[in-house]
Amino acid sequence: MIIANWKSNIIDVNNWYTNFNNFYKSMSDSAIIGVAPPTIYLDKLVTNLGKGDSEIKVGVQDVDHLYGSRTGTISVDMIIETGCRFAIIGHSERREIFHEDNNLIKEKLKSLNKRAMVVLCVGETKEENEKGLTKDILKNQLEIVNKLELDKEFIVAYEPVWAIGSGLTPEPKDINEIHKYIKDVVQSNSANNLSPKILYGGSVTDKNAESFFREKFVDGALIGGASLDGTTFAKIVNIFNTIKKL
Ligand code: PGA
Repeated sequence: MIIANWKSNIIDVNNWYTNFNNFYKSMSDSAIIGVAPPTIYLDKLVTNLGKGDSEIKVGVQDVDHLYGSRTGTISVDMIIETGCRFAIIGHSERREIFHEDNNLIKEKLKSLNKRAMVVLCVGETKEENEKGLTKDILKNQLEIVNKLELDKEFIVAYEPVWAIGSGLTPEPKDINEIHKYIKDVVQSNSANNLSPKILYGGSVTDKNAESFFREKFVDGALIGGASLDGTTFAKIVNIFNTIKKL
């Protein structure tokens, strides 16, 4: 799966979609493509792309696990009613800027599980990486799946905090090793021993995507900056489809 995370950027949706369509080469067993726009564009995007079986699934960048008197938030029922198919949770920007902790992220996971596809983001900071703590940090962030019967579409996105928007990335072989580790942790701790798909995120571009997609345990990507342009995003999807078919 290749997911665009537009974060809090203004996008001309019609223009983006025209550019995407001009470059995207549809294939029979193409990757699932997801777009997570700012919430205010959700309806426009769903209308543009059509509900249900469109090749592009629309999702949200975050969700509230509760509803009602919760000023400023969007509930799970609302995103499903709007036609969303997936939700990103635990993005490092939510963890850092909005102080979301594991307990809250677990509530979000439970409220979404088996209702919409969950993309759980995990990743270590530069400092944790340099101290050799990456696997400990990931294990801790992944504790929220313990004893949970996970939906078979549950996805983890490995996003080293230091790679996001920085132009820096881990070596592809190191990403591969971490992805295998994440898969094993989720498989041994979830109630149904689910082996999830793992996306890589952090400074993925149309120039470096191939090196990541060639790795066995890289099942796709979560893309911020390079997804803001429909042409570049389409090129990355095309690269994924070509490589994973080999
Ligand atoms: P980036 O962001 O591609 O701009 O590094 C990735 C993300 O935060 O999901």
